[in-house]
Amino acid sequence: MKALITAGGHGTRLRPITHTQNKHLIPIANKPILNYALEYVKEAGIMEVGIITNKDGSEVKEVYGDGSGMGLKITYIPQERPSGLADCIRIAQPFLNNEPFVFYLGDNIIVGGIKRFIDEFRSMGSNCHLVLSKVPDPERFGVPELIGNRIVSIEEKPKVPKSEYAVTGIYIYDENIFEAVNAIQPSARGELEISDANQYLLNKKLKVTYSEITGWWKDTGKPDDLLEANRLVLDNIKGNILGRVDEESHINGRVIIEEGAEIIKSNIRGPVMIGKNTKIENSYIGPYTAIYNNCYIKSSEVEFSIVSSGCEILDQDVRIEDSILGENVSMKKVVSRPRVNRFIIGEGSNIRHC
Ligand code: TTP
Repeated sequence: MKALITAGGHGTRLRPITHTQNKHLIPIANKPILNYALEYVKEAGIMEVGIITNKDGSEVKEVYGDGSGMGLKITYIPQERPSGLADCIRIAQPFLNNEPFVFYLGDNIIVGGIKRFIDEFRSMGSNCHLVLSKVPDPERFGVPELIGNRIVSIEEKPKVPKSEYAVTGIYIYDENIFEAVNAIQPSARGELEISDANQYLLNKKLKVTYSEITGWWKDTGKPDDLLEANRLVLDNIKGNILGRVDEESHINGRVIIEEGAEIIKSNIRGPVMIGKNTKIENSYIGPYTAIYNNCYIKSSEVEFSIVSSGCEILDQDVRIEDSILGENVSMKKVVSRPRVNRFIIGEGSNIRHC
């Protein structure tokens, strides 16, 4: 079995970070989002992976190369433009070679991995196996209509959902899906919808089965989802201190401090992750914060936030909370008159300050 993982798309809801960075490379608990998908498929015993990228997939390629670093064999499949999830399968048909495969949306994180879903697909003799999760807002997703334990229809983002379930970003298919993705027509938003392809299989009376996710699952499409996924992953870390902590610092709770990191005269209250070669000086880092590699934080407070690599946060008077900083962001206090705020900010940036 092979896996097809998506890492293209528009990333509109995560602008401005996605103006300059592929959303699948944003760190969640100091690991690019896409790492989670790659680890799950490997754990399920799948070594051959196709990754859908945007037309220029160089950013993702630079990070994962041929996959050998993770013990995988990766093939990159560039998509001319984001034309829908069913289009991802359509263009990957030569790679997938009419064999059963896992289709995994690369911005999804799920606790417990995906092996059991593959086992269920095989043991049920399914043509298509979907993974459902109960959500408070099904109208944002593909929604199945269930009668007993049978899926009878699937609608994409319905105004009036027929169940409280979302079709999550994990699908397992046999070769019948290729007929479906080649037969369906673009939707009103101009995309080949995966829900339409799944409905096509239902119309053909093929065996569409499902599993329900009992633990947590997160589709990291929006900023709040990133912070929530970060919180959920950090909630399960075990403390490990590899970097240097000076005698005047206090570390409480579960904290990971990577090699080369330095904590000087600071308070760190876990769960927290501090990346390689990051320096924290005279600062407070509060629960559910992940600070990635090569950052410098001085005389500041940061809590419940994601700080990407290469950021500097210096001498901030007010605690930074509920925040997502893209790579190489610089926040400095300048002592001068008149007292002013000076910003160099990209389209779609979001600033709330007091
Ligand atoms: P979505 O989150 O549905 O869409 P998006 O990434 O375009 O983001 P937004 O809605 O904020 O503009 O995409 C789900 C996954 O599928 C994600 O991994 C991106 C990927 N994708 C592709 O690779 N190609 C596509 O044509 C589409 C629509 C999504």
